Amino acid sequence: MRRPRRAACGLRPLLLLLPLAALLSFATFSLHYPDRLVGPTTVAVAAAVADTAHPQVPSPRHRLEISRLDLRALNATPPLHAAAVRAFRTGGRLLRDALSVSAGAAPPHARSPDSPRCPPSVALSGGKLRAAGNALALPCGLALGSHVTVVASPRKVPGNGLAQFAVELRGAGHGDAASTILHFNPRLRGDWSGRPVIEQNTRFRGQWGPALRCEGWRSRSDEETVDGLVQCEQWAWNTADTFEELKMIWIRNRVVGQRSKDLIDWPYPFVEDELFVLTLSAGLEGYHVQVDGRHVTSFPYRVGFILEDAAILQVNGDIEVESMVAGSLPRAHPNIAERNLELLAELKAPPTEEPVELFIGILSAGSHFTERMAVRRSWMSAVRNSSSTMARFFVALNERKEVNEDLKKEANFFRDIIIVPFVDSYDLVVLKTVAICEYAARVVSAKYVMKCDDDTFVRLDSVMAEVKKIPDDKSFYVGNMNYYHRPLRKGKWAVSYEEWPKDTYPPYADGPGYIVSSDIANFVVFEMETGRLNMFKMEDVSVGMWVGQFNGSVKAVEYAHSVRFCQFGCVDDYLTAHYQSPGQMLCLWEKLGRGKPQCCNAR
Ligand SMILES: *[C@@H]1O[C@H](CO)[C@@H](O)[C@H](O)[C@H]1NC(C)=O
Ligand SMILES: *[C@@H]1O[C@H](CO)[C@@H](O)[C@H](O)[C@H]1NC(C)=O
Repeated sequence: MRRPRRAACGLRPLLLLLPLAALLSFATFSLHYPDRLVGPTTVAVAAAVADTAHPQVPSPRHRLEISRLDLRALNATPPLHAAAVRAFRTGGRLLRDALSVSAGAAPPHARSPDSPRCPPSVALSGGKLRAAGNALALPCGLALGSHVTVVASPRKVPGNGLAQFAVELRGAGHGDAASTILHFNPRLRGDWSGRPVIEQNTRFRGQWGPALRCEGWRSRSDEETVDGLVQCEQWAWNTADTFEELKMIWIRNRVVGQRSKDLIDWPYPFVEDELFVLTLSAGLEGYHVQVDGRHVTSFPYRVGFILEDAAILQVNGDIEVESMVAGSLPRAHPNIAERNLELLAELKAPPTEEPVELFIGILSAGSHFTERMAVRRSWMSAVRNSSSTMARFFVALNERKEVNEDLKKEANFFRDIIIVPFVDSYDLVVLKTVAICEYAARVVSAKYVMKCDDDTFVRLDSVMAEVKKIPDDKSFYVGNMNYYHRPLRKGKWAVSYEEWPKDTYPPYADGPGYIVSSDIANFVVFEMETGRLNMFKMEDVSVGMWVGQFNGSVKAVEYAHSVRFCQFGCVDDYLTAHYQSPGQMLCLWEKLGRGKPQCCNAR
């Protein structure tokens, strides 16, 4: 047996410690917190809720932190500003809905085990399956021991086509927003290898990890096994020989009565126009795939691609699918407390007493739980370990109530989330940046304010060292600077002349990682409160514009440029790395722990 990976850890505590999870979760919501823990923003929650005249006013023991970003003075004439005002109005309603759910005494995770939302099995076949695009929804994800069965036949492909199909487990979301938790992809006629292969992989925000390819050789005996099974079984390349060989062995067994100890090369398991039955099961260490009752491949769980997050099973490619069945499904929605129990306590944000030197605001979306966990488990450990730095996720509300409910639980538990009460949309992320300024300058009075994304890896002490290079009394703006950039006027990311009339943008730092001194953050909040702030849909350009205004009207700003705030990915000796998947985050952290600020390839 190989050493279990960390990804599998979520499973065992789930089995062993459910009652403790229930207890913990209950405690989180029901204990009365001493006054000293009730900070100013918590009071704001109570006030915001009292405004609504909702019959079930939640008590202040909800320790949700809601941003106090105030749009009342905002000039609502520009379309983006008007959209912001509408988004706040809708957000207020969504927030009330989310808060009112657990107003009663019951622990919020306690969904009835027989809840129809979490059936033990789901199935689709024939026309219904085709109408659903060969996709089967897994209402409450998968759990240890869950299995799915696909009955299908690969389609005959004319010419030199690849003849391939894929069985995929995907997370929630559409397009690239949905991570692919498992991609099982047989290529019947082979690809560049020229022999039939099965490729398995994961994908995060449109980027593939390294493929695990089975090409017909059995995994070497020194390779890691998965629950004792090899990752790749051997298959014969010549099917006719195999059947002759099998027949001989079978006859010998029958006639001579001896049991063969020969290792048999079974043929490649998929044949065009021939029906197969594929079963995918979730083991302790990974997925196991059997075809027609025979083990074919096993795929170890990858960090950040969590079994419980599987929302859809889909089959696509050159294939006719007859039916799909999923069984032994979890009877309750996995909740936050149950999923990460072994890590929970140490990942909570510690209470801060000392003055905050550096405040890091991380833009995130409600459904990005996996991303936030990767941040908590990696570079945020350094933040928690330092008494003078503080990091918080800034998350807006989702149209879907369940997402907000889960977010509320997560926020209550980890205490590292600031909810910005508007309904989330890509064009309005700039509001989160203003909320970061508000929180950093007004709530924690930080000296420096950094903004990053939930796929940014921050090398904390090096970033601090970079900031310390600037004399203490200077106002500054540090990041990967863009000078004289021009708006794109065509294509998907086009910016209209109404939105940005000038030919160039002001100098601005790339969004995934920049730092400003607190006087600039204060200025932004003040401009917002006095109705003078102008927002642009690109948050990084907006910040460049505000800093430019500050530089022109308040005090000279030192602009410090470094390409080590990497925007396109990662460079060795980075200060920040961007587009990092959960697996890469943990890999970077591990390397950094060994004193090596080196990049990690896609995982
Ligand atoms: C936390 O801080 C201590 C003492 O400064 C240090 O020894 C330890 O390595 C730090 N741990 C992390 C994860 O940064
Ligand atoms: C900042 O202001 C000074 C004048 O006060 C000006 O010379 C400089 O170009 C400004 N910097 C930027 C990047 O706008």
